[in-house]
Amino acid sequence: MNFENLKPQVIALLSEANAERDIKLKNLCQLLTDNVDYYNWVGFYFANHENKTLHLGPYVGAETDHIVIPFGKGICGQVAESNQNFVVPDVTAQDNYIACSFTVKSEIVVPLFVNGKNIGQIDIDSHVIDPFTEADERFLEFVNQEVAKLF
Ligand code: SME
Repeated sequence: MNFENLKPQVIALLSEANAERDIKLKNLCQLLTDNVDYYNWVGFYFANHENKTLHLGPYVGAETDHIVIPFGKGICGQVAESNQNFVVPDVTAQDNYIACSFTVKSEIVVPLFVNGKNIGQIDIDSHVIDPFTEADERFLEFVNQEVAKLF
């Protein structure tokens, strides 16, 4: 996948004048699942810092039961506290993991910062083992920097 080709599409999609933020984010999830074959579920979680919980936002992929995730729980909850990217090449090797579906083999979560504050994250599940490289991390950091401009 050539992420460089996708970047202008991400920018164009997020700058659509007449769309609400959640529509743009859903379209972004669709763009990523359509163009990266190993991105099988793409979604956003947003933090409630008072309650220390993450809340599911726009996503594309299989329906999930995990609408609310406490900070510290699962890969997502750990990223809410660590403020660091979390790449999981093989989910079966993780103790603190919330399974969505047996089809999910790997996961990447990249925090979303607005003015230096971790307000949520982009979460991507894959049906293949160990697909994510540093190129994915750099690309998803770029995506989140663009998303941050909507807040
Ligand atoms: N697997 C995640 C839960 C969210 S789903 O992937 C949509 C986790 O361990 O935090």
